[in-house]
Amino acid sequence: MTAPHATNLTEDRPTFVTHLECSATGKRYPADQLHNLSDDGKPLLVRYDLEGIADAIDKETLAARPAGLWRYREFLPVRRTEDIVSLGEPVTPLLALGGSVLVKDESRLPTGSFKARGITVAVSMAKEFGIGRIAMPTNGNAGAALAAYATNAGIESFVFCPSDTPEINVREIAYQGANVWRVDALIDECGRIVGEGQERMDWFDMSTLKEPYRIEGKKTMGLELAEQFGWELPDVIFYPTGGGTGLIGMWKAFAELQAIGWIGDKLPRMVAVQAEGCAPIVKAWQDGADHAERWEDAHTVAAGIRVPSAIGDFLILRAVRESNGYAIAVSDEAIEEAQARVASEHGLLLCPEGAATYAAYEESLSSGLISVSDQAVLFNCATGLKYPLPPVTRTLDISAPIDWNSLTN
Ligand SMILES: Cc1ncc(COP(=O)(O)O)c(C=O)c1O
Repeated sequence: MTAPHATNLTEDRPTFVTHLECSATGKRYPADQLHNLSDDGKPLLVRYDLEGIADAIDKETLAARPAGLWRYREFLPVRRTEDIVSLGEPVTPLLALGGSVLVKDESRLPTGSFKARGITVAVSMAKEFGIGRIAMPTNGNAGAALAAYATNAGIESFVFCPSDTPEINVREIAYQGANVWRVDALIDECGRIVGEGQERMDWFDMSTLKEPYRIEGKKTMGLELAEQFGWELPDVIFYPTGGGTGLIGMWKAFAELQAIGWIGDKLPRMVAVQAEGCAPIVKAWQDGADHAERWEDAHTVAAGIRVPSAIGDFLILRAVRESNGYAIAVSDEAIEEAQARVASEHGLLLCPEGAATYAAYEESLSSGLISVSDQAVLFNCATGLKYPLPPVTRTLDISAPIDWNSLTN
């Protein structure tokens, strides 16, 4: 049943995709055909008739629509309303953490992470193309979103994750109907299995940036942020960077909004945050390189950003440089300390990746990379509830007298 005011999901709206473009060479590819990477093995980006968008919609019309990701239909690739696969994607709040820091709390999305943004759009496109089987490597959250949306769409899904992926992720993926396999390897090697199985298993490879539409869904983080800021933007965005889809997607959103005149010249500095145990983008940024080398022996408590090599590395680095931003690595100790402090002082349970952005924010302040007056937005990309938390060992014996003084210790 459709909710009465969910016109975003029921009303036909014009679409504006003109073509796809290789992100490395600019070579054009036709829209409305199934694509993975370009002929040069690089991610494809969706291009729109931006003038058409500007003529079709204005900020007031947008504001009058029901809140949520699908209000941005004109900026998205899905042509037919009936192909939209939605589990109800709300606007995520900006929460004050004191000073000029806001947390964009993406944990409110279906399956508890921002992966829902990319997957709702990509699975809708898969439905449009009549795809019956999808496969993906995951560090947990993307696989959970794929399982949920694919099952909802009646599409079969196969998910491959490193064997130390948070247990709850593996279980929820299975429970929501996907075929999930633990693999004794890191995510890029899980991705290799997906690539190798393509012909044999006849599945569509939905790995990060190996198909063109997840990034379009992630782009809505930028559209939504701009709208929440009254069509202005913060000074700096801290983004926990694995494959980098969100960072690249937001940068694309800002370019499209600028092109249609909805935002001015001021763009945020984009900061790619990684963990010291897996920091290929940070190293490439420091070396002044255009591409990152694979990070060997990758390890961090922040599972979502344990990505030793990213196919969109050059796009992440390009966005960071164009925005006058930077890339920064934080230690697992700093991540855990930040996570514990924000939970106990603000009542906000960040995921470790989100906590990494807070640690990076504080380190950036103390090293003078940013100033206290800079309006900063940190991305908390998932709920902290899916990750192991410290055990609680204290118990009360119901048959013994209660020592009330001991309760506060
Ligand atoms: C919680 C969390 N944060 C950040 C990331 C990294 O996202 P991206 O691939 O857009 O860099 C992931 C990806 O798995 C994640 O699950």
